[in-house]
Amino acid sequence: MFLLKAWRATAFGVYGITQFTKSAFQEHAKNFRAEDMQVRMEGKNCIVTGANSGLGYATVEGLASRGATVYMVCRSKERGEAALSKIQSSTSNPNIHLEVCDLSSISEVKLFASKFSSKDKPLHVLVNNAGILVNTRETTPEGLELSFAVNVAATYTLTELMMPLLEKAAPDARVITVSSGGMYMSPLTKDLQFSESKFDGKLQYARNKRVQVALTEKWAEAHRDKGIGFYSMHPGWAETPGVAKSLPGFSERMSGKLRTSEEGADTIVWLALQPKEKLVSGAFYFDRAEARKHLPFAGTAGSHSAIDDVVDSIRSLCNLSS
Ligand SMILES: NC(=O)c1ccc[n+]([C@@H]2O[C@H](COP(=O)([O-])OP(=O)(O)OC[C@H]3O[C@@H](n4cnc5c(N)ncnc54)[C@H](OP(=O)(O)O)[C@@H]3O)[C@@H](O)[C@H]2O)c1
Repeated sequence: MFLLKAWRATAFGVYGITQFTKSAFQEHAKNFRAEDMQVRMEGKNCIVTGANSGLGYATVEGLASRGATVYMVCRSKERGEAALSKIQSSTSNPNIHLEVCDLSSISEVKLFASKFSSKDKPLHVLVNNAGILVNTRETTPEGLELSFAVNVAATYTLTELMMPLLEKAAPDARVITVSSGGMYMSPLTKDLQFSESKFDGKLQYARNKRVQVALTEKWAEAHRDKGIGFYSMHPGWAETPGVAKSLPGFSERMSGKLRTSEEGADTIVWLALQPKEKLVSGAFYFDRAEARKHLPFAGTAGSHSAIDDVVDSIRSLCNLSS
């Protein structure tokens, strides 16, 4: 096990340093097609979680600048209002709205979903972007390990509860879940709350991000005929408030080499704009292309077969009826 973990860390480090940096983005961007982004989004309703900073902010700006109606889900009214007003002035789009919801609380997620659903509007794009990496184990008042609550439980609950509105927007509906290259470091595990061994925040983040990729596959399969596309993606390594706070050493070491938030969000916006026929539901994307879900010899490839058990556990932890 020690050797396998060491191999995963080495393979991830080499892959990351050659592919996830700013210079790698610039290299990959040589193959990007400008016309892919020349798409208008008037009349399209989008939800972006974790929208007041970093990649979420850049995503809202990308969607709003193309005319979309965007609902920004933020936990802080003040930070949300400040971001909204900046984006309204940078895009001149009046159709940007703030929804305050702390995603670490599953009851708040349910309340938001029910309030939003009462608008009865088709939902064309749901971007599950909010995410955290915590270095010490914290438990929410609902008894969930904090990073699992935000990264997995909220993502799952919100997506499930938005299905009827997504179906209303079919065949043009899509769910984009912002995972991380960090997920290459972990197989899918059933210890969702990291309660079976000493807590390791970075490993828990990798586990959460692996669940998001496997969940996306599962949704794609389960909703194959409903006109909803499900995509997970990773942004590479971008300089954001989240990275500076959770990974200060990495942030310092990589100073000058990290992507901007706009570069990190590029594939999120691209996935929102492409014709569905061009995309593969259930796939994992990076820099506007389908990416591998497993690194060679990392021992993670067979693990997604546990997804049904994982889904059952998430549903039960979130008190969602089966
Ligand atoms: N930046 C990277 O290099 C990188 C790499 C791989 C994956 N990612 C993923 O990209 C996504 C965005 O991260 P980022 O780098 O842009 O970090 P960020 O700047 O910290 O943004 C995260 C956003 O999520 C929000 N959030 C956190 N906890 C929340 C909660 N309980 N309820 C509601 N919103 C909450 C934050 O709100 P507050 O401002 O209120 O905290 C913030 O708006 C995450 O899923 C992250 O895992 C980032």
